[in-house]
Amino acid sequence: MVPAWLWLLCLFVPQVFPEAQPAELCVEVPENYGGNFPLYLTKLPLPCEEAEGQLVLSGNSSTAAEGPFAVDPESGFLLLTRALDREEQAEYQLQVTLEAEDGRVLWGPQSVLVRVKDENDQVPHFSQAIYKVRLSQGTRPGIPFFFLEASDGDEPGTANSDLRFHILNQSPAEPSPDMFQLEPQLGALALSPKGSTSLDQALERPYQLLIQVKDMGDQASGHQSTATIDVSIVENTWVPLDPVHLAENLQVPYPHHIAQVHWSGGDVHYHLESQPPGPFDVHAEGELYVTGELDREAQAEYLLQVWAQNSRGENYTEPLELHVVVMDENDNAPVCPPRGPPISIPELSPPGTEVARLLMEDLDAPGSLNSHVVYLLLSPESEEGAEGRAFELNSTSGSVTLGPAPLQAGQNVLIQVLAIDRGGAEDGLSSTCEIAVMVTDINDHAPEFTTSQIEPVSLPEDAEPGTLVATLMATDADLEPAFRLMDFAIEAGDAGGNFGLDWEPDSGYVQLRLLKNLSYEAAPSHKLVVVVRSVAELVGPGPGPGATATVTVLVERVVPPPKLDQDSYEVSVPVSAPAGSFLLTIRPSDPTSRPLRFSLVNDSEGWFCIEEFSGEVHTARLLQGARPGDMYTILLEAQDADEPMLRTSATLTIHFLKAPYAPALTLAPVPTRHLCTPRQDHGVVVSGSREDPGLASVHGPYSFALGPNPTVQRDWHLQALNGSHAYLTLGLHWVEPREHVVPVVVSHNAQMWQIQVRVIVCRCNVEGQCMRKVGRMKGMPTKMSAVGILVGTLIAIGIFLILIFTHLTLARKKELDQPVDSVPLKVAV
Ligand SMILES: *[C@@H]1O[C@H](CO)[C@@H](O)[C@H](O)[C@H]1NC(C)=O
Ligand SMILES: *[C@@H]1O[C@H](CO)[C@@H](O)[C@H](O)[C@H]1NC(C)=O
Ligand SMILES: *[C@@H]1O[C@H](CO)[C@@H](O)[C@H](O)[C@H]1NC(C)=O
Ligand SMILES: *[C@@H]1O[C@H](CO)[C@@H](O)[C@H](O)[C@H]1NC(C)=O
Ligand SMILES: *[C@@H]1O[C@H](CO)[C@@H](O)[C@H](O)[C@H]1NC(C)=O
Ligand SMILES: *[C@@H]1O[C@H](CO)[C@@H](O)[C@H](O)[C@H]1NC(C)=O
Repeated sequence: MVPAWLWLLCLFVPQVFPEAQPAELCVEVPENYGGNFPLYLTKLPLPCEEAEGQLVLSGNSSTAAEGPFAVDPESGFLLLTRALDREEQAEYQLQVTLEAEDGRVLWGPQSVLVRVKDENDQVPHFSQAIYKVRLSQGTRPGIPFFFLEASDGDEPGTANSDLRFHILNQSPAEPSPDMFQLEPQLGALALSPKGSTSLDQALERPYQLLIQVKDMGDQASGHQSTATIDVSIVENTWVPLDPVHLAENLQVPYPHHIAQVHWSGGDVHYHLESQPPGPFDVHAEGELYVTGELDREAQAEYLLQVWAQNSRGENYTEPLELHVVVMDENDNAPVCPPRGPPISIPELSPPGTEVARLLMEDLDAPGSLNSHVVYLLLSPESEEGAEGRAFELNSTSGSVTLGPAPLQAGQNVLIQVLAIDRGGAEDGLSSTCEIAVMVTDINDHAPEFTTSQIEPVSLPEDAEPGTLVATLMATDADLEPAFRLMDFAIEAGDAGGNFGLDWEPDSGYVQLRLLKNLSYEAAPSHKLVVVVRSVAELVGPGPGPGATATVTVLVERVVPPPKLDQDSYEVSVPVSAPAGSFLLTIRPSDPTSRPLRFSLVNDSEGWFCIEEFSGEVHTARLLQGARPGDMYTILLEAQDADEPMLRTSATLTIHFLKAPYAPALTLAPVPTRHLCTPRQDHGVVVSGSREDPGLASVHGPYSFALGPNPTVQRDWHLQALNGSHAYLTLGLHWVEPREHVVPVVVSHNAQMWQIQVRVIVCRCNVEGQCMRKVGRMKGMPTKMSAVGILVGTLIAIGIFLILIFTHLTLARKKELDQPVDSVPLKVAV
């Protein structure tokens, strides 16, 4: 229907649109047409009005000119003149044009496609009449081991060339008549399941198969031809492979043959897979190759699988497996562990303390010599002998320990270790590893004073609290600032708490300061023991002698200038006062102060004198020229008896009185006293009170003075005891032994009297006592005892005289210097 419709379109379109390009005409001609010729194929769509031209036929076929086609000029039909063979030419492309006399194209060109319709006129053919095929035992059933080839000249894709293969006969028909199966369309020959199971029992002789190929598909009709297949059964050579050992880094030309597989059947392709993927390949003949160097450290083992496949990639049987073991080579040096931060080791750590353990990695095969690492200490080198080693290395374990040599705090040590594999053999590979070690400080040094001998420090008594006495310096050999902190204390010598210490926490200086007033009397010197200690706890032996310093502070006595009890003195004296009259006593303000020495500075008249030590002022002579009512001022001076530079002065104003010197000096004899000479610590107490009953109303306080006689003043010394008594002692070391009458002037207010003190001066005996006259002694001896004493004394004198005379004969010049009166008086009589 549709081709008919198209056919009409082909015919009428050019007539409707005469100017338009005519569409191509399609004509189909049966092959091997058996009817009459010419065969009218189709009418060309010529224009109706123009018929005077000439129709020209041309085509790509060389046969176009004298070919099987022609155009009938009358009818305008395309003609076929003879039968066509599709196998010779299947299509013809023709062109028809209408040309004028002058060759002008009047119409066309009209192209016509002539197709030759196929007829099953060709017989299929096998490519060979006899095929020889090898079949390996062990081939799986259904896997084609041979593909038949046959051809048919008829048009491809049509039933005329649709071929089917069949086994017509199997010889021998043993052990089964249908050992093989042939895929009808593809011609793929395979073992049938039955054939597969019985193949091994089959005799090793070839099978002959008669096979047929037929066209027209599955239709019963069709052309056919036959051929023979000789199937020879061959032994299965697909046998397991031994493992292959390959050295890594093998320096050989690649690809390098490692094994061979062989599938004895025909038409085989080998396929290799490596698990994990590796540089392996299989060649067409079944040779296995390694195509590049292997690295055991990357992959130590491979499992190769090789398949024998047919041309369609189907496996004939199970794969063969090949183990490839990569053998180790010492191609890896030991690898140092990554260098971390320095390792801290406290100083004084005991020998044997582990500093670090080198965990070296050698990538070569574990447990083999290639990964057997031995260690060698490169640095620090031992200085002298084993004693000098600060570090030791265990060559097998790589453990670095402390050696006997001590480390110093703050030291940074770089330990270098050589690690060699192959057990340290010469051909071993090596690496040098470094370990940084930092020796940290511990508080093992006690602080010490730089000098423990400090010059004695003199400090005046009046030094103010806060005064710096001394600065001591201490040092600590530790490095760590926390271990250098010091604490100071006064350990001894400051019971009174007079001194204190002052220091900055992080400096080694400590200042010894005065805290309280010093007193020479309380302590003329202080021996201070200052100790320094580490604030942090000390490790190791305790502080040595250097941690103690002794500071001797000598207190300088400060003597204040003398001070008198009054700033100025006034006294009245009658102009008629006799020489030696007592006026007044100048006293220091503090009776306990040191002794003073008094003098008058500008007594130009020479009227007065002052007792050098007691400060008593007397008239030195009669006040001749002094007029009553007059005033006489003199300057007096007091010096420290020991420090003459310390002095003070005061004015003494004397008012002369008109009043006559009424009471005459009354002589009051006092009982005789004994004093011995040379001077002993004895004296005579003199009472100032008058024995005169008429004047008994006068009571102390009295002033005492010696009489004006210079000899008396030289020989005697008078000292006021209290308001009523004075003490008379010898003024010289030696005073003539006899009875002395010492005048003592006693005064009270304006009254003045004289006491005659009778003193017997005698020689002192050995007890420092006076040898008194017997008559004055109490308890006289009896006559009997006197006679006894006399006899004993006479005997003693006799012996004594003998001794003297003997002594005199021996040393004639030597005299007895013992005075005669040294002999007890009673005896001398
Ligand atoms: C002529 O043309 C037809 C159709 O295009 C083609 O099949 C055929 O092979 C050609 N013949 C030659 C000799 O070129
Ligand atoms: C055949 O061999 C391939 C490897 O090439 C494998 O992947 C496949 O599974 C095999 N086929 C059978 C049926 O064993
Ligand atoms: C070295 O270390 C190994 C293993 O720790 C040990 O067996 C060996 O005694 C050590 N050698 C020395 C000298 O300490
Ligand atoms: C210490 O002496 C000063 C004068 O030298 C004095 O003023 C002060 O009162 C004294 N302090 C004590 C506590 O005795
Ligand atoms: C002694 O010195 C004092 C003070 O300088 C003075 O007042 C007085 O008049 C002097 N006396 C004589 C006698 O020069
Ligand atoms: C003064 O001293 C003397 C001698 O030591 C003593 O006998 C007398 O009682 C004392 N007088 C007074 C008032 O203390």
